[in-house]
Amino acid sequence: MLLGVNIDHIAVLREARRVNDPDIVDALGIVKRAGGDQITIHLREDRRHIQDSDLKMIAQLSPLPLNLECAKSPSMIAIASHYRPHRVTIVPEKREEVTTEGGLVVDSSDEVLQNAIANLQEQQIEVSLFIDPTAEAVNASLAMGVEWIEFHTGEYANLHAMLYGNLRNSHHAIKALDVPRHELKNRLEAQLEKLKSLSMYAQDLGLRVAAGHGLNYQNVQSIAQIKSIEELNIGQSIIARSIFSGLHQAIKEMKRLI
Ligand code: PXP
Repeated sequence: MLLGVNIDHIAVLREARRVNDPDIVDALGIVKRAGGDQITIHLREDRRHIQDSDLKMIAQLSPLPLNLECAKSPSMIAIASHYRPHRVTIVPEKREEVTTEGGLVVDSSDEVLQNAIANLQEQQIEVSLFIDPTAEAVNASLAMGVEWIEFHTGEYANLHAMLYGNLRNSHHAIKALDVPRHELKNRLEAQLEKLKSLSMYAQDLGLRVAAGHGLNYQNVQSIAQIKSIEELNIGQSIIARSIFSGLHQAIKEMKRLI
């Protein structure tokens, strides 16, 4: 299974201070040395984390293929075409959302999306569509002529968190559903089955299949066992864990200096 490491949250931390610390470029070599297969970044329209200058540097310096997530708007596609990442994953984007809440609506009459795909493919940039796990979305993506789809695993991750996760923070984005535990288990199982059968279906149609969103150290293994999924893109949980796996060393180094 290939791992795309989404490094947006390094930029989130940097933007909190607007100084170049942590320097996102420093992450590139670490991702490669640790066995990551791809760098993934999301240039959001509101530039809340990754900036155009990050994209420029990462596109130049990344030792791994770059997967750029962005909206389908002509201005974003022009930026993507300019920096020529290996792949562009087109995602839906709402300014007020905390993160990408659902998959793209793939509509065969959507000329903005058609033009975005055609422009990128003309430049030999692979295109992926970030979609909900539904047969309609797979069929529509195939009809659009893209090489890749990425299944949004948010619903799977939310159900997993409700069943087994730690939702103790009152402003947690995942609100527990008011249904019995066995019903949550059935829904989780159904989500997993859906991801399995649809990824097999999509692969048989000739699409390459990735998945991502909300995957973490607790919930990833069931998804990683799905043979038809080639790649997972994971951000939040890896960057969150890195704080704690690095905090001990960071304190020791500061203590030594003072
Ligand atoms: N894949 C896509 C298309 C995304 O938009 C995101 C979130 O930016 C991810 C994967 C990674 O999600 P997470 O940060 O929850 O691991």
